[in-house]
Amino acid sequence: MSPKTADVILETHRLSRHFGGLRAVDQVSFQVRQGEILGLIGPNGAGKTTVFNLISGFLKPTAGTIHFQGRPIHGLRPNAIARLGIGRTFQIVKPFSDLTVRENVLAGLGHDLYPTLRALREHYLRPDAVRRADRILEVVGLSEYADVRAGTLPIGLLRRLEIARALALEPVLLLLDESAAGLTHHEVEALGALVRGLRDQGITILLVEHNMRFAMGLCDRIIVLNQGRILAEGPPEAIQRNPKVIEAYLGHSGRVAHR
Ligand SMILES: Nc1ncnc2c1ncn2[C@@H]1O[C@H](COP(=O)(O)OP(=O)(O)OP(=O)(O)O)[C@@H](O)[C@H]1O
Ligand SMILES: [Mg+2]
Repeated sequence: MSPKTADVILETHRLSRHFGGLRAVDQVSFQVRQGEILGLIGPNGAGKTTVFNLISGFLKPTAGTIHFQGRPIHGLRPNAIARLGIGRTFQIVKPFSDLTVRENVLAGLGHDLYPTLRALREHYLRPDAVRRADRILEVVGLSEYADVRAGTLPIGLLRRLEIARALALEPVLLLLDESAAGLTHHEVEALGALVRGLRDQGITILLVEHNMRFAMGLCDRIIVLNQGRILAEGPPEAIQRNPKVIEAYLGHSGRVAHR
């Protein structure tokens, strides 16, 4: 499906991040359009997570710019970027294991409300916040686990909790870093439905994925990164047939379409 509108919500221009001599992200320019599901794929070490870290402010660019809804955001802190409307998940899930699922989402509501975990516990009964958290848990299908300690959840549910936490600040752009990793086939299908549902609610999605079947079936458009640079960009069908893309994957894992 093509995007509902061609408005650009996020744009990077010659975005670069070097680590010593390594050009992890090297002059990467791309646009994310309002309302689309855009996939960012590429072999291990291609720079995908680094792009996410740059957009979400966890890393500063070595060079280049990032504009979100027309304003520059490179150089802003992660909190400020989250507040502007960019939510993200982490490839390595990191919930507060000792808190319940609901408390984890409450913690995602922000520092103003809950600057410390103690404040979180003390403010726990703020009904407006609890209502917001419970609504998000419903969206991601975790309502029945609201009072369960996060540390006891299996990976499939932890990935949903990651998404719930990212939704806490009501983002307009959501970055998902390998949300399908470690999931069963059934869980991957349910995740696809969840992501589509979020898009239908008006959230634009940029997702990093290793599961090719999932990415190809879900994304409107795909960007392929390889060694820090954009190798190809286009609709999933064209990407799957692109000889440069096939070669980049053959050089690493030997497979492009079946992981
Ligand atoms: N903080 C860091 N310090 C030094 N090198 C880093 C750092 N973060 C990433 N790198 C390196 O930058 C390159 C890109 O890493 P990145 O995590 O962005 O890749 P990726 O495409 O997300 O890979 P994967 O598919 O394995 O998650 C890799 O060579 C990685 O080792
Ligand atoms: Mg990564």
